[in-house]
Amino acid sequence: MSMPDDWHVHYRDGNMLRMVTPLVRKRFWHTLAMPNLDPPIVTNERASAYKEAIHTSSPDEHDMYNKPTHVSLYLAETLDPQEVANAPEHVKAIKYYPAGLTTNSEKGITDPSALWTRGTRAHEVLCAAAEKKIVVCLHAADGKNAHGVELDPYDQEPHFMAESLPRIRDAHPKLKISAEHLSTKQGADYMLKHGGPLLGCSLTAHHLLLDRRDVFRGGFRPHRSWMPAIQSIEHTEALRDLAGKGLPFVWLGSDSAPHSQAKKESDCCASGVMMAHAGIELYAEAFDNMNALDDRFENFACRNGARFFNVTDGHKDKKRPSIHLQRLKWKVRKPFMVWNDTDELQHYDVVPFRLGEEIEWTLS
Ligand code: DOR
Ligand code: ZN
Repeated sequence: MSMPDDWHVHYRDGNMLRMVTPLVRKRFWHTLAMPNLDPPIVTNERASAYKEAIHTSSPDEHDMYNKPTHVSLYLAETLDPQEVANAPEHVKAIKYYPAGLTTNSEKGITDPSALWTRGTRAHEVLCAAAEKKIVVCLHAADGKNAHGVELDPYDQEPHFMAESLPRIRDAHPKLKISAEHLSTKQGADYMLKHGGPLLGCSLTAHHLLLDRRDVFRGGFRPHRSWMPAIQSIEHTEALRDLAGKGLPFVWLGSDSAPHSQAKKESDCCASGVMMAHAGIELYAEAFDNMNALDDRFENFACRNGARFFNVTDGHKDKKRPSIHLQRLKWKVRKPFMVWNDTDELQHYDVVPFRLGEEIEWTLS
């Protein structure tokens, strides 16, 4: 098949970036890097420096410079609409984080109504994005209901679909919106009804492969914990149905999000797990389970996102290559070791998804 694209990946920075980059670049052609670093990426200058850091963070063995890297800006209260208006070609998206609902979201938006209320900075940012045809990627979750009461984590996305997304779309009718890492039946239903040239969604392999029983079997499993959380089987099935329909507005976004083992196995487990070591293999498994390992898989992985984000396959010296996937099991044997950024004599481990277990497909 053609080399796929990943429209939602956390490359991180420092030595973690050096560990992650070769894994991602071996598998994916276009990639969209997420901006929730510390501090978050809110200027074009930093976005460009980040793109450079990704390019230089790994040896050339995977043809680094020939792979198109796109970066997103973080929709913080401090993001200046002028930055969006002046964004360079490689800034392909603005990422919305509801404050406090996921990793490094503290600088995100505290009141989602800012997105549809004239006169706020966030509203101006979305107007600038619509004008410039830059996609706004939404972490589609609300933290509170209309009465200010904290929502149950499992209700955050349904609430956003019912209350926030329609208002954002009404306020910005020309804006291109991607609802990221859809996790619920309500999200899937919303897409089936309203998805099209201006609205689409990314799906992760983990939301297609797992359901809530897998997260709690025998006890809580921190290495199966993300935000949005894995929901009950009815929701997983709705996402599988959506993926299996072969619709043009549904695409691959792995949300590979590595953390140190210590942060995962701690008093407050960090949300996110590394998927990059099997970034496409896990999707092959999910689509194979759905009997959808055909054109639907290739469109989902290689075409739909590229069309939505308005990128081409490349020019003659920079053509999208092919990859070869084989139905051949392999075992994820070891954690990944990363040298500490501040103390070069120390290192830490990152536990990849399915450590100690098998993956059904191999990239050869
Ligand atoms: O599980 C998650 N991890 N969800 C996000 O939205 C952020 C990500 C991260 O950066 O670790
Ligand atoms: Zn993410």
